[in-house]
Amino acid sequence: MSLTLRELDWPLTTDRLQLRPGLSEDAAQIWPWYRLPEVQQWTTTLSADEAEHRQRWEAGLAHAMVALQGERIIAVGKVERQDAWSQTDVAEQARGQQAELGWVLDPRQQGQGLGTEFAVALLRIAFEGLEVRRVEAACFADNHASRRIMEKIGLRCEGVFRQESLHRSGRWLDGMAWAILATEYRARHEGASRAEAPARSQETR
Ligand SMILES: CC(C)(COP(=O)(O)OP(=O)(O)OC[C@H]1O[C@@H](n2cnc3c(N)ncnc32)[C@H](O)[C@@H]1OP(=O)(O)O)[C@@H](O)C(=O)NCCC(=O)NCCS
Repeated sequence: MSLTLRELDWPLTTDRLQLRPGLSEDAAQIWPWYRLPEVQQWTTTLSADEAEHRQRWEAGLAHAMVALQGERIIAVGKVERQDAWSQTDVAEQARGQQAELGWVLDPRQQGQGLGTEFAVALLRIAFEGLEVRRVEAACFADNHASRRIMEKIGLRCEGVFRQESLHRSGRWLDGMAWAILATEYRARHEGASRAEAPARSQETR
């Protein structure tokens, strides 16, 4: 059975963040910083006003995540379960087998490693919570901060698509596709645990 985000245990706590699925009422708190030009430069959707933002937020609630510091929402993201491509006769086995991630941080909190911390948590939710077999993320090639996050959390660049994306500036920009498999994620984590193990056993001596 495929779990949904809301069926997982919440909140998820990292060193500096508390994550939980988005709620309807979060829209108002997010809007003042989400609407800023420096945030909107690379995001998919630019809402004209708070009412439109609220409508879009509601429409995406099934896969919306927020991260809080104290009472304040400082990041929004998504972990969107999706069907993998398949031949039609095996479509049932491909249903819900992958997830797409996304992340947006309040500009006041950027540059402190929190975007990376949030993305690591979203990856964990996809693989350890939803148990998908593959995670994907996409960005404009010019979005260097987001590209760096992809690299840092272990995604592999699987494609650069020349001028495939129309930016609202009117320019056709390169797009990038990134991904990691569950098997690769587990191998990375097992490798990390093994590397830590001798230090731990020495401590206990
Ligand atoms: C992308 C975003 C989440 C990064 O958040 P952040 O908290 O500043 O990220 P971090 O502090 O974890 O930094 C991640 C890495 O990107 C690097 N980085 C940040 N801004 C950069 C820039 N303009 N150019 C190049 N690298 C940059 C950092 O140096 C860091 O790499 P390092 O650890 O090797 O030094 C944030 O900039 C954002 O919300 N942008 C607007 C929305 C957006 O672009 N979302 C993604 C759409 S695909």
